[in-house]
Amino acid sequence: MKQKLNESTEWVSDRFPLKKLWEDHMSHYYAPKNFNVWYFFGSLALLVLVNQFITGILLTMNYKPDAELAFDSVEYIMRDVNWGWLVRYMHSTGASAFFIVVYLHMFRGLLYGSFKQPRELIWIFGMLIFVCLMAEAFMGYLLPWGQMSYWGAQVIISLFSAIPVIGEDLALWVRGDYVISDATLNRFFAFHVIAVPLVLLILVFLHIVALHEVGSNNPDGIDIKANKDENGIPLDGIPFHPYYTVKDIVGVGVFLFFFAAIIFYMPEMGGYFLEHANFIPADPLKTPEHIAPVWYFTPFYAILRAVPDKFAGVIAMGGAIVVLFLLPWLDRSKVRSIRYRGGIYKKALLLFVISFLGLGYLGTQPATPSATMAARVLTAIYFGFFLLMPLYTRWEKTKPVPERLTEQPSIEEKIPEWIETYHEMTEKQEVKAASGEKKIVTRPNPSGIIAVLGRTVKKLINSLN
Ligand code: HEM
Repeated sequence: MKQKLNESTEWVSDRFPLKKLWEDHMSHYYAPKNFNVWYFFGSLALLVLVNQFITGILLTMNYKPDAELAFDSVEYIMRDVNWGWLVRYMHSTGASAFFIVVYLHMFRGLLYGSFKQPRELIWIFGMLIFVCLMAEAFMGYLLPWGQMSYWGAQVIISLFSAIPVIGEDLALWVRGDYVISDATLNRFFAFHVIAVPLVLLILVFLHIVALHEVGSNNPDGIDIKANKDENGIPLDGIPFHPYYTVKDIVGVGVFLFFFAAIIFYMPEMGGYFLEHANFIPADPLKTPEHIAPVWYFTPFYAILRAVPDKFAGVIAMGGAIVVLFLLPWLDRSKVRSIRYRGGIYKKALLLFVISFLGLGYLGTQPATPSATMAARVLTAIYFGFFLLMPLYTRWEKTKPVPERLTEQPSIEEKIPEWIETYHEMTEKQEVKAASGEKKIVTRPNPSGIIAVLGRTVKKLINSLN
């Protein structure tokens, strides 16, 4: 059996560089040995991408891209097609999971300066992926032809008309009609099912090629290629396979646990993953009371609404994405990782996270005067983080970066501390069951929880200084 396998591998290797590819990119590809949980999200993004492709193809087998039939065909998938409900929920939950994973993946870049020289192109390809992902999600959301599909698309496409001179014609050209209609649905279907996924695949390929050319960054932000042994192998590197293939499987297991829990118990996620209004068929004559995009667009939507002028709002919204492309050139710091940056970057990053989450929340809410004011402040913080970056990253004092990777406690070493914290946050109580039997139950311990929270906040503040 083994001999047959070897013969087959040899046969293929004589005709195709399979073995070479495997060695260059897996078994002899040396990655820094200190990857932490933040490094799970790249492989998870790949997993979600595959999930979206497979479930998308299955959905297409029963979906009808026709304004008269689309809504009913989705209901048909949900009720009559064998396992259709599962396939549809895997796809709709997958869309949100994609953004959760990708936002965390991008945030890792901010933590460890992964966008800095020589990884600018990895970042640029990543940003192009992000833009494609937004287009893919936006067009996919029109397909169920529910109320929010229809009116969401109406609001967003009408933004094009704010562009001076060409705006009206551009919006008409994108819609293919004066309002969202069957023509819009058909072209969005074509883009969602074939055009954008193809571009996404190519971009992901380029992203990984660029990554393997320069090698991964790491939580210390040190170049592992600077220290090699006599055989040219980085002293702080380990082969990607088997070490990180196995490690990534752990991430996949944890991810699938949450993914399955959402699919089986809360696929709508309280209206955040599938909005309530989208269970009503699209009605061009009835505008929903409150139009809000899906959660992953809401930070950008809040920026749009924060600006009083429509065209300026569109520019600000676009600018919020464009500025991310410029990150490698805005950051002037001498160090990559947050571990060796000064307090200013840490505080600025914290403020940025608060502004992004705050804008995300405000984008789901009606635009009351106070909400709009809050969105303006948060928009200013969002842009301040990027536009002031050339100044504060140049000024701030950084810590000396070690030459070799540092030792960090492993998860196994942290477990006793976590168990201790759990005991501190809970207490055992004796309760009497209805049958009169006495039982020991574990309850939350408020004073313990406060003490742990206090310590955590103190630790956070100390790390910021
Ligand atoms: C479909 C979406 C994406 C996929 C499948 C993907 C895949 C990957 C994979 C497998 C890695 C190597 C493993 C890791 O470092 O986690 C990686 C690294 C990286 N990705 Fe992505 N990525 C995606 C989107 C993005 C986006 C949107 C950005 C940022 C705009 C981005 C920026 C980066 C950077 C900077 C690295 C290098 C990180 C380092 O070495 O520290 N990626 N990506």
